[in-house]
Amino acid sequence: MNMIQRPRRLRISSGMRDLVRETELSPRDFVYPIFVVPGEHIKEEIPSMPGCYHYSVDQVAALAREIAALGIPAVEVFGLPEYKDEIGSSAWDMTSPVQRAITAIKDAVPELVVVGDVCLCQYTSHGHCGELHDHYVDNDATLPHLVKTAISQARAGADIVAPSDMMDGRVAAIRAGLDAEGFVNTSIMSYAVKYASGYYGPFRDAVDSTPSFGDRRQYQMDPANAREALKEAALDVQEGADIIMVKPALVYLDIVRQVYEATDRPIAVYNVSGEYAMVKAAAANGWIDEQRIVLETLTSMKRAGAKIIITYHAMDAAAWLTA
Ligand code: PBG
Ligand code: ZN
Repeated sequence: MNMIQRPRRLRISSGMRDLVRETELSPRDFVYPIFVVPGEHIKEEIPSMPGCYHYSVDQVAALAREIAALGIPAVEVFGLPEYKDEIGSSAWDMTSPVQRAITAIKDAVPELVVVGDVCLCQYTSHGHCGELHDHYVDNDATLPHLVKTAISQARAGADIVAPSDMMDGRVAAIRAGLDAEGFVNTSIMSYAVKYASGYYGPFRDAVDSTPSFGDRRQYQMDPANAREALKEAALDVQEGADIIMVKPALVYLDIVRQVYEATDRPIAVYNVSGEYAMVKAAAANGWIDEQRIVLETLTSMKRAGAKIIITYHAMDAAAWLTA
């Protein structure tokens, strides 16, 4: 049979496949999230996120060395505070676990890029991402709290601050606040396109940030909307975001591609806790091949346009990629 076009020719050997592969996943793409808690000598597995742990601050230097040794360039620090109040003031307390962990990591491994998650939901008594007025999250009243939180993380040593609150105008406010304090080289990775998603469930258990009433639909995006994502991304670029994030990742890869095409900033995706938990649960049951599924999934995120992948699989995936 005379067939001129035979796509299979380029799949004939692993060398040929290597040669034509368009997307290459690397440990250098990953950001590993770390959860820090008050106390000492703590490394406790998070029930809804098997393989992820709560660490006390004394544990994070050793962890950071392990992460860097795997070739992973960055970590993002989340935490549980010692106290919560109406406005979330432990978010900008320099003695809170997050601020102390950031400093400890930078002291241990200065070249590791440290990202601070800037939000208030872990720190407010009601679990919403901002200050409440009459059961409504007040956008403008929340901005100064976010600015203080970002500055405190920069002061602790964070290279990047990552606002995940979804208040309007927070990127501009944080940029101005950082610059006024001299942190002109602290980058902002904006959770620009963040959907009100059921996929955050395991994370909220991990950091005790489930809202005590209502949900986050008045500030996070409607999963049904795509054009709104382009608006959010464009606004954050205008306001000074250095990196634009889309979150969650897996069921929003169409959005990742559209945002990638619409902006000149590096794109990050957050492969969130629910995406992770589903894979871990199926793998624990022997229903899927974990390594294969994880590498395929992370590759799809990169193929869609993300350069940066924030993922709980980072340490495993890095080890698999370099084995
Ligand atoms: C805080 C925050 C959330 C996540 C990252 N930062 C949860 C939320 O908005 O409810 C989710 C991370 C994950 O699910 O892995 N605003
Ligand atoms: Zn929040």
